[in-house]
Amino acid sequence: MRILSGIQPSGTLHIGNYFGMMKPAIELQDKGEAFYFIANYHSMTSLFDAQQRRMNTLDVALDFMACGLDPKKSVFWKQSDLPEVTELAWLLSTVAPMGLLERCHSYKDKKARLGGNDLDGVNHGLFAYPVLMAADILIFDSNLVPVGRDQKQHIEVTRDIAIKFNNLYGETFVIPEPLIQNDVAVVPGSDGQKMSKSYGNTIDIFGEEKAQRKKVMGLVMDSRTPQEPKPDAEKNLAIQLLKLLAEPAVAADFENRLRAGGLGYGDLKKALFEHYWNYFAPMRARREELADNLDHVRQVLQEGASRAREVASKVLERAKQASGLN
Ligand code: ADP
Ligand code: TRP
Repeated sequence: MRILSGIQPSGTLHIGNYFGMMKPAIELQDKGEAFYFIANYHSMTSLFDAQQRRMNTLDVALDFMACGLDPKKSVFWKQSDLPEVTELAWLLSTVAPMGLLERCHSYKDKKARLGGNDLDGVNHGLFAYPVLMAADILIFDSNLVPVGRDQKQHIEVTRDIAIKFNNLYGETFVIPEPLIQNDVAVVPGSDGQKMSKSYGNTIDIFGEEKAQRKKVMGLVMDSRTPQEPKPDAEKNLAIQLLKLLAEPAVAADFENRLRAGGLGYGDLKKALFEHYWNYFAPMRARREELADNLDHVRQVLQEGASRAREVASKVLERAKQASGLN
């Protein structure tokens, strides 16, 4: 079984990225052939600062490896080191109906919010983004794609495109399945919406202690007094996050205390911060080691790119044969 996923180097990674995509991807390393990459081509649709992209790319590599991506188990590379992907994206774009792409939230929502007349709005790259993503997935004969729920639609588009191409030109592509963790499908941010770098409501994986403490202490709560029982304790933001970061029994204990009344929100948030901080402590230490050895990280990406390329070039050739280009 081949497992594939990608993550954009478009900002600092947060615990929504970790629980929604990175942790499942890391756990799958032992279940099949894992292929993971840094989607720097995709980041060009929304980030227009070259130096920032360069720095973010290295940061994502460090973050992912610190969190447990093991280059002995996984192939790990930077998307743009495989130009085959953009070539396949062209072939796929000719069988991708406009209507299908127009319905994609990534494009539709941003267009509705910002329009399309300058770079702050939508560009053609954002419109074509799902086709490039389909190329990422199909070029590796991927079976399983672990992602957060917001990417589900893109996997559906990928499947549609693959089926269309296969019907037209004969069996060429493997049809992939999304893998979405139901319990953590959407990690909430400090305001209760989906945690996202676009909403400024994130708790970072590797943020500086004081800043992250401030974010945790700033989680939005209601105005009920500590003494009041809270029959809806399971909906409390801090409880939801604690379920991800603490042992189940510990999280259940806090939830019961909140439900019964007598536990103040401040104390609950302090406990949440401690659990968050301890949860990522070993990864923080590992990240420091990696940051002292950037040549190693760069080498991992280079070796990953050449291993990935061996697979990708064969599938691209298969698609070129099928469609009469070769
Ligand atoms: P952001 O929303 O911060 O821009 P990305 O879109 O770059 O994050 O997402 C990278 C990966 O992390 C995707 O697989 C996405 O589904 C997952 N992800 C992002 N935010 C969350 C969240 N709040 N809960 C669960 N998964 C998430
Ligand atoms: N679009 C994904 C995101 O923003 C990143 C991505 C690009 C991806 N290509 C992919 C994820 C292929 C899975 C498979 O999170």
